[in-house]
Amino acid sequence: VGASAVNVRAEAINPEIRKSEEKVVDSVIVSELSKPLTAYCRCWRSGTFPLCDGGHVKHNKATGDNVGPLLLKKQMQ
Ligand code: FES
Repeated sequence: VGASAVNVRAEAINPEIRKSEEKVVDSVIVSELSKPLTAYCRCWRSGTFPLCDGGHVKHNKATGDNVGPLLLKKQMQ
């Protein structure tokens, strides 16, 4: 078997956040955004979850992962 260019990790990416829930889902009603830009965490490493605090940078360096936040941008008139 040849070496793969993709490093696939078998470990769960969420070690501790809301583990009592079968699936963690968060919803945002975009028309209610009060700030022009809000970044939501998708790496599960943020200390301010569900908001991104930049923790994905350390996670990516440590694991070779490439996760980043979901950006919600308020449409300007
Ligand atoms: Fe998780 Fe930024 S801290 S995406």
